[in-house]
Amino acid sequence: MKSAPIPMFKLRIWGDRVLEVSGIDCFYGDVQILRGMSLSAKPGEILCLLGRNGAGKTTTLKSIMGLVPARAGSITLDNERLDTLPAHEVPKRGVGYVPQGRRLFAEMTVAENIEVGLLTRSKGAETRERMLTLFPRLRDRYRQRAETLSGGEQQMLAMARALCLEPRVLLLDEPTEGLQPSMISLIRDVVVGLKEQDVATILVEQRIDAVLSIADRVVFMENGIRRDEATAEALRHDPSLINRYVGVSQAAAIDPAPISPT
Ligand SMILES: Nc1ncnc2c1ncn2[C@@H]1O[C@H](COP(=O)(O)OP(=O)(O)OP(=O)(O)O)[C@@H](O)[C@H]1O
Ligand SMILES: [Mg+2]
Repeated sequence: MKSAPIPMFKLRIWGDRVLEVSGIDCFYGDVQILRGMSLSAKPGEILCLLGRNGAGKTTTLKSIMGLVPARAGSITLDNERLDTLPAHEVPKRGVGYVPQGRRLFAEMTVAENIEVGLLTRSKGAETRERMLTLFPRLRDRYRQRAETLSGGEQQMLAMARALCLEPRVLLLDEPTEGLQPSMISLIRDVVVGLKEQDVATILVEQRIDAVLSIADRVVFMENGIRRDEATAEALRHDPSLINRYVGVSQAAAIDPAPISPT
């Protein structure tokens, strides 16, 4: 019997929602932080989460990782519930996380931190090599303890460790905080590269100009509530939602015509 031909192109189904956060409530002790928070991300999509300090952006990412439990609502990855899993199972499902302030295993070397990432989803030498090619500085610092790396090098390591999972969803919490322009553009290139590999990225970022040039959609949060949503394209032309939820000075930083026609 003749087998069916293998299609030579990758079919991208935009309707697919790889990650779905639906109406979650989260608390620290008795204090409710997230109130019916919802968002979704599709393969190959860069979703940006914006809001003022304390709006609940980090808490949203932590709840996806199972680090803050959701007391109501659900979190699913391809229809599998994540919110009912223990936190250590979430990365194994292919969710990479680069926390705010790039928490690493400080006492461990670059090599050991990378190894932790590889072991999570049983990835091997090929993935390690790809990471060291992507971030050559890490190869130079391979035996150095993470706590002795520079801020930029630590961010590279935090990214590399998350990417060692070969994630389907990547959560980045202010990845460019305190970094010089060349590092910011490296991170940006990595995120854009992941988009091409159909990874869904959720990006929390303060630098609105950097966000709008790579994001597909923006979700605005205020006081733990999802308030609004817009495409990055629409926000470039009309930043009024940014004024409202983030502040006027940020909206003023937007270049309305980032891609000059000719
Ligand atoms: N471990 C904690 N215990 C108690 N309250 C907390 C804890 N972590 C965060 N909060 C509170 O939850 C709220 C949301 O914090 P979160 O870190 O999610 O905000 P954010 O939007 O990420 O802010 P930022 O832009 O400053 O990073 C804040 O009021 C914060 O004080
Ligand atoms: Mg935060």
